[in-house]
Amino acid sequence: MTRTLMVIVVITSLLVIYVMEFKVYHGSNEGRKSNSGPTSFISEQIPTKANGIQQNTSKDNLVANTNISKDQVPGIKCSKRFNIAFLKTHKSGSTTVSNILYRFAIRNRLNLALPNKRGKPNHWVLGDLTNFTDASILRLPTGEHYNILAVESIYRRDVFRRIVPSNPYFLTIVREPVDRFISYVFFNKKNNVEGMPYVIKNSFLKDKVFKMAAKGMSLDFGMKYNGSKLLLDPRRFVQNITTDFDLILVAEYFDESLLLLKRQLCWELKDIIYISKNVNAQKRNYALDAHDVERVRNLTQVDNMLYSKSKTKLLKQIWKLGIEFLDEVFHFKGVLKLVKNYCVHGMKHFSNTTIPESEWNQRFSVTEGDCRYLLMDEPTLVGNLQERTWLRYTKFRDGF
Ligand SMILES: *[C@@H]1O[C@H](CO)[C@@H](O)[C@H](O)[C@H]1NC(C)=O
Ligand SMILES: *[C@@H]1O[C@H](CO)[C@@H](O)[C@H](O)[C@H]1NC(C)=O
Ligand SMILES: *[C@@H]1O[C@H](CO)[C@@H](O)[C@H](O)[C@H]1NC(C)=O
Ligand SMILES: *[C@@H]1O[C@H](CO)[C@@H](O)[C@H](O)[C@H]1NC(C)=O
Ligand SMILES: *[C@@H]1O[C@H](CO)[C@@H](O)[C@H](O)[C@H]1NC(C)=O
Ligand SMILES: *[C@@H]1O[C@H](CO)[C@@H](O)[C@H](O)[C@H]1NC(C)=O
Ligand SMILES: *[C@@H]1O[C@H](CO)[C@@H](O)[C@H](O)[C@H]1NC(C)=O
Repeated sequence: MTRTLMVIVVITSLLVIYVMEFKVYHGSNEGRKSNSGPTSFISEQIPTKANGIQQNTSKDNLVANTNISKDQVPGIKCSKRFNIAFLKTHKSGSTTVSNILYRFAIRNRLNLALPNKRGKPNHWVLGDLTNFTDASILRLPTGEHYNILAVESIYRRDVFRRIVPSNPYFLTIVREPVDRFISYVFFNKKNNVEGMPYVIKNSFLKDKVFKMAAKGMSLDFGMKYNGSKLLLDPRRFVQNITTDFDLILVAEYFDESLLLLKRQLCWELKDIIYISKNVNAQKRNYALDAHDVERVRNLTQVDNMLYSKSKTKLLKQIWKLGIEFLDEVFHFKGVLKLVKNYCVHGMKHFSNTTIPESEWNQRFSVTEGDCRYLLMDEPTLVGNLQERTWLRYTKFRDGF
């Protein structure tokens, strides 16, 4: 490698020229339509470069653009995508992805499909879509459409298309099945796991939570079971999933995955910043030996197929980007540290922080407002968004 390693320049509390911009538009079948009416929805600054860029959702265009490695700059043909159907799988880093999508929707004033469960238990979960009707999600003012689905649900391609009607980008995330199994077990058993720290005892298979854990992500993707018997052909099932989704993020390569997402959606670096969410603190004291790992792996067959296929696909895409991509990942991790430092510590002292321009991004600011949403837990954020969506609906239900 001839290139020298990138040095992250830490700049805090510098005076910046800060452009506040308010953008008002909502999704429609034509992509986006201008609408100067509703102003009660969240207003935030959005990066100036997003302005005036036409949406081009053609598949060819996506492919043509996979090599663009910088934020959108004048002259580069690249159009930001706004319509996204995200399958939020359990225990796989998906809450962090949802947070990214909620914030993207807020900044760009897009319509989120939210469960019609204001103030009810599990109000942030859409869940099973077998009996989905229009009344399952919060309504929008007449003539508007949903742009983004990011709440938890069980995958059904037809329903996803119905919710996000305008050529959605299908996105999901998978996690290494053994890790995910353990994470699921600890989350659901609230740390009461027999035989700590070696949790995999002979009796474990009889436990309901372990049985569910073994079915794993395949349940989120819509695999059908009778007891532990598969009712769909697993190969066809996995084949369908990997062709349905435009991108399957891999939790073990989270930052790499997000940078690929940024390229494919023609987003900016600011659009993919995050602070990790929903990390399982109870999982600290566990151990598996090689035999335990094999036992668990033997149980999670469908997940293994799904995972290895998704991972191979992702790594191939990364490989095509070449060794320079490592520099970009390194830079991104540095940016994430700056964001976290500011949101956790700096926010008490400065009203914003500036992320400097680089080979891969334009300069941008992170404000207290950004941090509020970056740090907000999902139930609170979805609850907030539900109230706002409801208010907009009641105020503008007739379309003006
Ligand atoms: C960002 O911080 C600078 C310096 O503290 C300040 O002058 C500027 O008004 C801030 N911008 C916003 C949007 O808060
Ligand atoms: C979208 O991009 C594709 C491929 O680059 C191009 O053929 C098509 O004309 C574009 N459509 C619009 C509306 O710009
Ligand atoms: C991506 O960029 C690299 C380096 O600029 C180039 O060698 C490669 O051919 C490009 N790939 C595609 C698919 O355009
Ligand atoms: C869907 O509706 C049918 C008929 O009312 C009911 O039997 C079934 O349990 C429902 N499925 C789910 C997942 O709620
Ligand atoms: C599930 O399995 C049981 C026992 O093998 C069988 O009796 C039942 O008909 C099966 N149900 C379905 C929906 O396939
Ligand atoms: C795969 O997709 C095809 C076409 O949509 C469908 O007919 C088939 O039932 C699916 N198979 C599985 C196992 O999901
Ligand atoms: C895992 O499955 C393989 C093949 O079915 C079997 O040979 C092996 O003994 C199993 N391992 C464990 C630890 O159960």
